[in-house]
Amino acid sequence: MTRAYSITAEAIASERARVGDDPDRVDIARIITLDELSLPEPGPRDVRLRILVVSAEHNLTHAATADTVNIADLRGGKIFPGNSAVGEVVEVGREVTKFKPGDVVVTHCNGAPDPYGYPLRIWAYDQPDSIGWYAEEAVVGDWQLVKAPLECGLNLWEIAALPLRAPTAYHMWRRAEGMFRLKVSNEQLATMNVLAFGGGVSELFLMLAKHRGHNAYFCSGSPERREALEAQGIVGIDQKRFNRFAARDDVKAFGKEIKSLTDGQGMHLVCDLLRGPVFEAGITAAARQGVNVSAGWQLGTMVTYNSAGASTKQITLDHTHYETLVGIDAATSLYGTVFKPTIHREIYGFEDLPRAIVEMQANQQTGIPIIRVAKDMPAAVRSLVP
Ligand SMILES: NC(=O)c1ccc[n+]([C@@H]2O[C@H](COP(=O)([O-])OP(=O)(O)OC[C@H]3O[C@@H](n4cnc5c(N)ncnc54)[C@H](OP(=O)(O)O)[C@@H]3O)[C@@H](O)[C@H]2O)c1
Repeated sequence: MTRAYSITAEAIASERARVGDDPDRVDIARIITLDELSLPEPGPRDVRLRILVVSAEHNLTHAATADTVNIADLRGGKIFPGNSAVGEVVEVGREVTKFKPGDVVVTHCNGAPDPYGYPLRIWAYDQPDSIGWYAEEAVVGDWQLVKAPLECGLNLWEIAALPLRAPTAYHMWRRAEGMFRLKVSNEQLATMNVLAFGGGVSELFLMLAKHRGHNAYFCSGSPERREALEAQGIVGIDQKRFNRFAARDDVKAFGKEIKSLTDGQGMHLVCDLLRGPVFEAGITAAARQGVNVSAGWQLGTMVTYNSAGASTKQITLDHTHYETLVGIDAATSLYGTVFKPTIHREIYGFEDLPRAIVEMQANQQTGIPIIRVAKDMPAAVRSLVP
């Protein structure tokens, strides 16, 4: 048996009844609970892992609040969440050649690649029978693991911030860049203006932009997070100066500010993982031929825009989900050289995981939230624990 967090349809229903169906009063900590689980014996291509560290991810809040779909209900009443982890290999099936006991690995959450490698489903979310990694142990297929780049210069918490967020940022980057380059060549415009709105994935997207020599702008309400990116040469814009785009005039003022920051050009690439009021601000900020890319809908799933305006400005809207296996390897190779994530100041204990999720949802963290699962770390990573 291993301890693992679960979310049940019953817990969601009972919390909704308690708060009279008011989504703003739902207490996620009452829905995500520490449970127990009996893991299967590893098959020939499977790996048994001891989970060392995980990061909190937003799909857990989607699962717990059932704001997109009621995934626990759809999956038979219960899920074991968690799709980003660093683990130690403790046992491998007889056909596994890539890993051996003692290796430290990171997971990815592409649960079922389609013929082109894109995920049909996400592990520990909508992939049937998938068991997540907010647990002390796990059994996974060897194809779901990548060797952790322990020599990349990042500490263990920073490495743990990246398994889900880095492939997402990398994927959005290569699509947005590719689409823009289809319209405007490097010879015509060597340096792009790149904007992203608050959040861990956006920060990584901008680190890629900066690393490739482009002008990068981070519009966030968090002074700590802006300061961390400014240290990497990424220009901070205070989103609260524009009232988080609550009214049309706020969006207009933001558009004016963007024009003045970019010599009248606007943003060639915009990363918007939030939608809601942020969407219009991103469209307003776009340059002609601009690309607006997203893999999230934290503040809203529906968007509306003026198709004539987007057409005349040649704007491309792109929707992504998650990387292909090859892209995940490429993203992992950029840990430390390109991706230097900002970590929330508290490292949470395993028992504090529900609180980490609540604080993430309440936007109270100064960086990516990390949860230490193993008290005793293997020798291979002990020197990486700050
Ligand atoms: N498809 C995928 O594979 C994938 C992977 C990872 C994430 N995502 C999605 O991407 C989104 C962001 O994820 P993340 O990991 O980057 O999140 P994160 O690090 O927790 O950042 C979320 C950001 O949202 C901003 N925010 C929160 N409430 C806001 C509000 N009311 N108005 C404006 N901004 C607000 C905050 O920015 P400031 O306070 O700094 O402005 C915060 O830093 C989530 O929806 C997540 O589900 C998708």
